[in-house]
Amino acid sequence: MKKSFHESLVLGGSRGLGQSLFQKLSQQHKCVALSRSTDPKLDLTQSDSMQIFKNAVQENSFSHIFYVAGGGPHGAFFDKPLHSHKWAFELNYFKPVEIAYYLKSILFKGVFVYIGSAIAETYSSSQSSSYSLSKKSAVKTLLSLSERDLKVRVFSPPYMNTSLLPPKAWPRLENPELIIEPNMVAKVLIEWILDSLNESLDPTKTFDPRHFDWLQSFTYNLPNRKDY
Ligand SMILES: NC(=O)c1ccc[n+]([C@@H]2O[C@H](COP(=O)([O-])OP(=O)(O)OC[C@H]3O[C@@H](n4cnc5c(N)ncnc54)[C@H](OP(=O)(O)O)[C@@H]3O)[C@@H](O)[C@H]2O)c1
Repeated sequence: MKKSFHESLVLGGSRGLGQSLFQKLSQQHKCVALSRSTDPKLDLTQSDSMQIFKNAVQENSFSHIFYVAGGGPHGAFFDKPLHSHKWAFELNYFKPVEIAYYLKSILFKGVFVYIGSAIAETYSSSQSSSYSLSKKSAVKTLLSLSERDLKVRVFSPPYMNTSLLPPKAWPRLENPELIIEPNMVAKVLIEWILDSLNESLDPTKTFDPRHFDWLQSFTYNLPNRKDY
């Protein structure tokens, strides 16, 4: 029998990819979105965030938890304050890892989906080093976990037309055709999760844009990419 979604939680579901995902999933089943602008409010970098997250998990029966929230300072490393780099690591690395610990401890039977970044995992960036390194570290850590302990999937999208992509980012300035609308990515994400759970697409746990011809050119074929 095909596996499907039952109830989902989208962490960072108020804007961008998370909002598109939330809107699509809500059409099919119960979906909860949490972020700094929802009620209840969840700031994943604050000390009360684990308790708010645990409450949501205990009050629902989530089959899928999507960690979509992400961010970090854009600019040369020393031009940005140290606390902004710490913030990026807290949001992109430490919180999803802490959530993984918790989900393992309660023997969570659903799927924990982390949104990586195909660009950050493929290219170096002097303008978003803490963002890129924290995303890459989280992906490496989560993919190293045993499937027996926790079912994790990592989905790494290419450039998307959201507020996270700065106005002076290279694709906005020189290659806007490389930027995909988040609702297209949300559609692929839902299809991929279902396919990967049914193991008809790829036995590995990483989303690889090369499986989708039209996405491949958006991610891996960037010979003239500039680091700004
Ligand atoms: N845009 C791209 O080009 C791109 C490319 C590859 C990967 N990604 C990844 O895709 C994911 C979604 O990015 P996006 O482009 O959709 O970003 P976005 O438009 O900036 O949206 C980010 C979402 O995360 C939430 N969020 C941010 N900080 C938070 C915090 N401290 N606590 C709770 N929620 C928080 C925001 O909601 P509130 O403001 O309401 O808190 C918002 O819903 C991220 O993981 C990003 O790294 C993006």
